Amino acid sequence: MKWLVTGGAGFIGSNFIFYLLEKYPEDQIVCLDKLTYAGNLETLEKVMQNPNFTFVKGDIADRPAVYALFEQEHPDVVVNFAAESHVDRSVVDPGIFLQTNILGTGVLMDACRKYGIQRYHQVSTDEVYGDLPLDRPDLFFTEQTPIHTSSPYSASKASADLLVQAYHRTFGLPISISRCSNNYGPYHFPEKLIPLMIANALNDKPLPVYGTGENVRDWLYVTDHCAAIDLIVRRGRDGEVYNIGGHNERTNLEVVKTILKALGKPESLIRFVTDRPGHDMRYAIDPTKIHEELGWLPTTPFDEGIQKTIRWYLDNKPWWEHIISGDYQNYYEKMYGNR
Ligand code: NAD
Ligand code: TYD
Repeated sequence: MKWLVTGGAGFIGSNFIFYLLEKYPEDQIVCLDKLTYAGNLETLEKVMQNPNFTFVKGDIADRPAVYALFEQEHPDVVVNFAAESHVDRSVVDPGIFLQTNILGTGVLMDACRKYGIQRYHQVSTDEVYGDLPLDRPDLFFTEQTPIHTSSPYSASKASADLLVQAYHRTFGLPISISRCSNNYGPYHFPEKLIPLMIANALNDKPLPVYGTGENVRDWLYVTDHCAAIDLIVRRGRDGEVYNIGGHNERTNLEVVKTILKALGKPESLIRFVTDRPGHDMRYAIDPTKIHEELGWLPTTPFDEGIQKTIRWYLDNKPWWEHIISGDYQNYYEKMYGNR
């Protein structure tokens, strides 16, 4: 099988590529990535020489480039991770979120219609459901929960989901959509909560907690997300949405304190800062559908996954230090500038 994985130089896409190459050594993978600030070729360094892996630098919203890629590679399956993914950036500058997350998804699906495909899979998020109140721990997002977005990021992801469902209904495009809770693990860009707090704590810098820190996220170790997407693409029903999450709810403050404790750093590093505008209170996934239909269950509980993740950041300091210094953005030019 030949996979086109978009956004594979980012956090989850790169972990998905590693997962596929290890599990299916006979499969071929083409990665299309624009290498925005969030894309990092150093992440993919260890697979660059793999004969079953090809990296292509390009924008999913660039129609001629995407069509040319499909003509050359003829992928069997597309998994679309490419997105602007940071809520705070969408508050500052929504435009690029509409461009990549909505229009880019449209271009990819047009290419799938034109050249034919076995399955187009859209990697979506639980943030399309909005948030849940803190005083109703009995409530969870199901696939039937109405879409109700809070940020330009989540609105752009929800718009893309609607477009994907429309292409299925109108044109019969074979699709699936997964809506996952917050991921964590290796290669997570250090602007997001967990890697930012690890990096700041290691540098004895303040840990900025938005508002009171009581917001709740439902954390999933990234490999569990990759396994779920693989299952959905291979065995999930055409046209369906699947929620992915593992009942690992924690307040932000709990997460931050866990990190400080593991690193032996004092809680006095915590700084409560002005809240994010429109900040969602609680996300919580009901994963019954994917469990009952496809047998998926998460394998890494939060308490184990967070320790593994902290260990990874300790063992891979150059990876995140290059990001903080900006060096990683010169890597493509250095490696490929003259090729
Ligand atoms: P990320 O920001 O780490 O990576 C995004 C990647 O997409 C980067 O490599 C970037 O260069 C690339 N990209 C951006 N714009 C592009 C474009 N126009 N064309 C081609 N490539 C482009 O994001 P992530 O955390 O790995 O998230 C991947 C996907 O999973 C996103 O669609 C996101 O909405 C979704 N998701 C993320 C989480 C999470 O907790 N991180 C949870 C649920 C769903
Ligand atoms: P984030 O990692 O940006 O993911 P998302 O907003 O998609 O859930 O943030 C996770 C939670 O952590 C969210 O409630 C916002 C909060 N947060 C902070 O308190 N401080 C920070 O510096 C960041 C980046 C996030």
